[in-house]
Amino acid sequence: MSTFNDKFLIVGGNELYGEVDVQTSKNAVLPILAGSILCDKPIVIKDVPNILDVHNMFAILRDLGVKLECDKDCVIDASDITNFTLNQDLCKTLRSSIFLLGPLLARFKRAVISFPGGCDIGNRPIDLHLNGLQKLGVKITNRHSQICCDGRGMKSGIVQLDFPSVGATENLMMSAMFLKGTTKLINVAKEPEVVDLQNFLNSMGASISGAGTAEITINGVNNLHSTQYAPIDDRIVAGTLMIATAITGGKIKLKHTNFKNNQSLIAKLSSVGCQIDIKRDNIYITSKGRLNSVDLIDTQVYPGFPTDMQAQMMSLQAVSNGVSIICENVFENRYKHAKELIKMGADIILRDRVAVVKGVAELNGAPVDATDLRAGAGLVLAGLKANGYTTINNVYHIDRGYENFENILKDLGADIKRV
Ligand code: EPZ
Repeated sequence: MSTFNDKFLIVGGNELYGEVDVQTSKNAVLPILAGSILCDKPIVIKDVPNILDVHNMFAILRDLGVKLECDKDCVIDASDITNFTLNQDLCKTLRSSIFLLGPLLARFKRAVISFPGGCDIGNRPIDLHLNGLQKLGVKITNRHSQICCDGRGMKSGIVQLDFPSVGATENLMMSAMFLKGTTKLINVAKEPEVVDLQNFLNSMGASISGAGTAEITINGVNNLHSTQYAPIDDRIVAGTLMIATAITGGKIKLKHTNFKNNQSLIAKLSSVGCQIDIKRDNIYITSKGRLNSVDLIDTQVYPGFPTDMQAQMMSLQAVSNGVSIICENVFENRYKHAKELIKMGADIILRDRVAVVKGVAELNGAPVDATDLRAGAGLVLAGLKANGYTTINNVYHIDRGYENFENILKDLGADIKRV
């Protein structure tokens, strides 16, 4: 696993050819690992990705007393845990520590958490999580920097979300698992990772339906049984590799990936000249020469264009033929990669949530800083296209969500190494 000072050294110009087995989804496996404490019997999660965020989640679970044995599959045994207070320092390492709030309340009717860490891409409040829990009868008090939740008065009910937040949807779904009667969550997130969490919980004997639509119904159950569960593949990693091929040229095959979860990206790349073929759970992408710009990229909640693909798409637009307008509608501060791309010769104007990207014929290698996970991935893609050497600092941001990224790219023909 990476060290804090690791960098990537890239020499641009190589096209990409070959095939990749797409890793398991970070944003599916993290709430699933948190949900594992709902079950008082050992369970198995298959093919868990070797990424920093997973290791940080393991540390939080072990601190709660969960027993974990992991090779590629993880045996998770939360049968003996009694602690419902999260370690403050560990919470700061991971936004997804918040996913333990719902399961702790469901299992112990109590939870003490701290404000979560994670990518610095906006304020990222947790008000939608807390408001929803209060609507289900949870009493919430702040003590010093801890949030103390008392769920002994929780009851099933109806919660209307003000915004279809992914995290709030997943937390509320897990918090209501054992409540007598039926809980309805309205205006919820429809992301594939939410559907995967529902399927995981139902594989342990939960009774949840509606994930993938705007309304989720949870019928309370008394207890859960063991399970073996394989989470979905990572649509953002698959998308990143598709854009890598679009930016460098070449042809790659992405194996074991569900194209349905990437349709907005596939539509954009096809519209500018990439050839994309689907065969069962494989995606083939071929790209030749300089692509035209995409007129407008408007990030939206699923099934709209994902905000987690915005940075990678900006790198492609930076070298495309024409002008592209990008609107980041989900997070209020997710353009830190733009100034790094400008260091490489990109022509980008930022106005609040709008970026106007005028494609240039060439980028030039430069030392640049990864500021968060997807920004880092976007800079790697720019480095693969740029003339000369690019150095990417703070690679630990990228290791949070991409397993073995530099070696996967190297196997596809890129000139990249970790130093
Ligand atoms: C999930 O984050 C993903 N993370 C993010 O991926 C992704 O960008 C995001 O969903 C949107 O798709 C994981 O699944 C682990 P939200 P989450 O709650 O749950 C505001 C990556 O790169 N909001 O849907 O934190 C919030 O500030 C990461 O892999 C509130 O105002 O996202 C944001 O503007 C980055 N109050 C918007 O809603 C709340 O209580 C969407 O947030 C919660 C959220």
